[in-house]
Amino acid sequence: MKNYKEKNQLQEKITPEFLFNKRREFLKLGAGSIVASSLVLSSLKELFALDSTNPYNLKPTSYEDITNYINFYEFSVNKQKAVKLVQNFKPTNWNIEVSGEVEKPLNLSMQDIEKFPQVDRIYRFRCVEAWGMVVPWGGIELRELIDFIKPKKNAKYVSFTTLLDKNIFKDQGTFFKTLPYPYVEVLRLDEALNPLTLLATRIYSKPLLPQNGAPIRLVVPWKYGFKSIKSIVKIEFLESRIKGTWEKLDPREYGFYANVNPNVSHPRWSQAKETKLGEVEKRDTLLFNGYEKEVGYLYKDLDLVKNF
Ligand code: MTE
Repeated sequence: MKNYKEKNQLQEKITPEFLFNKRREFLKLGAGSIVASSLVLSSLKELFALDSTNPYNLKPTSYEDITNYINFYEFSVNKQKAVKLVQNFKPTNWNIEVSGEVEKPLNLSMQDIEKFPQVDRIYRFRCVEAWGMVVPWGGIELRELIDFIKPKKNAKYVSFTTLLDKNIFKDQGTFFKTLPYPYVEVLRLDEALNPLTLLATRIYSKPLLPQNGAPIRLVVPWKYGFKSIKSIVKIEFLESRIKGTWEKLDPREYGFYANVNPNVSHPRWSQAKETKLGEVEKRDTLLFNGYEKEVGYLYKDLDLVKNF
């Protein structure tokens, strides 16, 4: 690249929108009229790949905001305090137990996780406290792991558990006792198999910081953030539904489904609007956080008000 100006001009040109339009042009041409030179093929590969990383052309929240405005109750209910306290958490030699109703129960290291196909996804993320952000996650689709371990026919639910260690997580000790620990979350198996559901290990292509749930966390972008459990040490396949930590604490406030829904208010927060980190104006909350096309089929027979 000759100079900065030229580089910036090129970057401006290659927006997701530009790529999206290019892709449509290509589709209009029809496959028959394409000369299959390696150059054409590699640039098309790039177009399609980028398109699926950020299909909604979302503008990511800054790394600064994503890594400082956090919820990690094992450390503190106070966001700033939690960021400070979390710095002593150094997740090394991590092990994830995969067990329950599966053909191949096993223990996975983080090196094992790296062997699954890696993906990058820019998703909306919405906390039940009515704030949201856009996060460039990296990691694996949970369904890759599920395909590998082969759930038995009677497996209907998947539970996830955060590390329990009162020496690391001060709030798990006798001090605050805010939540029933260890932190547990639960999905239906078909929700876990949806391609949007990730086990994330990176943000902005960097390994997760401890405050965001290092070394591995769940990401379920159409549900309120409390379902996206951090620092996972156990994934268990179950025949019957169990309660997650928040549902156990108060099922009237934190339902099992926790699907983002502007029409179902939390007793303490209307969910009609939300504030994106880094923005002042409120935005309308989107049903399923804007992922109805991808996940609506999971709930077509479900009363979303009763099953919140
Ligand atoms: N996982 C654990 N183990 N402990 C927590 O306190 N907080 C949840 C979720 N996962 C939490 C957790 C909540 S309430 C939200 S909104 C998201 O993590 C926040 O993720 P972030 O801090 O990376 O933004």
